[in-house]
Amino acid sequence: MDKNQIEKMIETAIEQLRFSYTPYSGFKVGAALLAKDGKIYTGCNIENAAYTPTNCAERTAFFKAVSEGVTEFEAICVVGGKDGVLTEYAAPCGVCRQVMMEFCNPKTFQVILATGKEQYDIYTLEEILPLGFGPANLC
Ligand code: THU
Repeated sequence: MDKNQIEKMIETAIEQLRFSYTPYSGFKVGAALLAKDGKIYTGCNIENAAYTPTNCAERTAFFKAVSEGVTEFEAICVVGGKDGVLTEYAAPCGVCRQVMMEFCNPKTFQVILATGKEQYDIYTLEEILPLGFGPANLC
């Protein structure tokens, strides 16, 4: 990914913060998921009064894409913070890392964590989910 693409991913993830539905935690998360065909799928976190049905921003983006027949991905950008203020990286939770493991090559899938267009770091899925269990383990 070149710098322009990375910046577009960050911008797109930040735009999603306004849709984040967080009446309980106030912690807003936005995601931009880049499919191999070049399309970006967006996501925000969606909370629920019963708490456990809450869906993270990353999974919202993945499930939107997969539900439209897209299952090959290159990268995801995740941003988040209390009341939508981006002070620290919002790293994907364990459940979201596992969903990434289902569809993505851990050695090549890029996870962009950002607090702004000028402040970001990129990790592979393998770096944030070492020894991950995925579809290949069942072959
Ligand atoms: N959250 C995400 O959207 N993604 C993550 O990877 C971590 C947590 C959301 C869920 C909940 O709405 C809020 O952040 C606080 O946990």
